[in-house]
Amino acid sequence: MKKDDSKRREEALEKAKVLIEAMPWIHSKNGRTVVVKYGGAAMENASLCREVMRDVELLKLMGMRVVLVHGGGKAINRLLDRLQIPVSFKNGLRVTDDQTMEAVSEVLIGKVNQELVWLLNEYGNNAVGISGADGKTLVCRQIDPDLGHVGEVKKVNTELIESVLEGGYIPVVASIGCGPDGLYNINADLAASKIAQALHAHTLAYLTDVDGLYADIDDDESLISQLTRSEAGQMLEDGSLSAGMIPKIASIVEALDAGVHDVRIMNGTFPHALLLESFTDEGVGTIFVQD
Ligand SMILES: Nc1ncnc2c1ncn2[C@@H]1O[C@H](COP(=O)(O)OP(=O)(O)OP(=O)(O)O)[C@@H](O)[C@H]1O
Ligand SMILES: [Mg+2]
Repeated sequence: MKKDDSKRREEALEKAKVLIEAMPWIHSKNGRTVVVKYGGAAMENASLCREVMRDVELLKLMGMRVVLVHGGGKAINRLLDRLQIPVSFKNGLRVTDDQTMEAVSEVLIGKVNQELVWLLNEYGNNAVGISGADGKTLVCRQIDPDLGHVGEVKKVNTELIESVLEGGYIPVVASIGCGPDGLYNINADLAASKIAQALHAHTLAYLTDVDGLYADIDDDESLISQLTRSEAGQMLEDGSLSAGMIPKIASIVEALDAGVHDVRIMNGTFPHALLLESFTDEGVGTIFVQD
């Protein structure tokens, strides 16, 4: 046998080994529902975004019922900046006046949603973009008049998402909801959690721009690898969280209470974080489980 041939055979065996090792994982995940929330913060690099969409498509090919829910915080800020509309947040939620609401739906539905659909379709031709207003999927009411058009999800109608899944497609959901007086801006973490709860999802995965939850955001060494529901609830109560982490952890606690088996926060800018979390023992972010 030539040297080249033996090297090629070795490489082929290596590939087979990887597939065989993934077998028990694939077996255990088959048919399970996973809601992946892709944060706007992690979407900034186009080639990484493409990689993440390929991972999402692979999860589907492995037999999982994958629902993608997305935010778009950074892209919304860019448009608001161009329009010279001031940006402000309260407890991690975007204060959303009429003009801001228009920009939010333009960016989320008109841009981010369709770009993700397009990228996914590069790999499988099976992504369907919807917003929470389609099929009255996310029905909301105003959280607080001071926040303007920020919605709290009161009801999730899962019929549209279920029929998209049954048709063999991946639903890609923009976190916009419908209320009695128009469209509402829903924090994408809270929207993803409500959808995961309503679908009785097994796993809810948040892809963001940090490695996971830090006990102290200013201390790189303080990444938490596992947290129970009570510990997460405690962090919410003692006020140690800030910015976008407040709705994220609140939505995680709610999802666990409603029966979602595990929730993960991982770095969506780290190549293949989603695959590593799904098909290996190597947890790369923070996993939240019931007590
Ligand atoms: N204790 C903490 N651990 C980790 N990140 C934290 C913590 N406290 C605050 N953060 C901030 O939370 C941010 C992630 O939330 P953010 O809302 O900005 O992004 P996202 O939810 O992924 O995107 P989008 O809001 O567009 O959906 C991080 O960039 C980090 O700066
Ligand atoms: Mg956020």
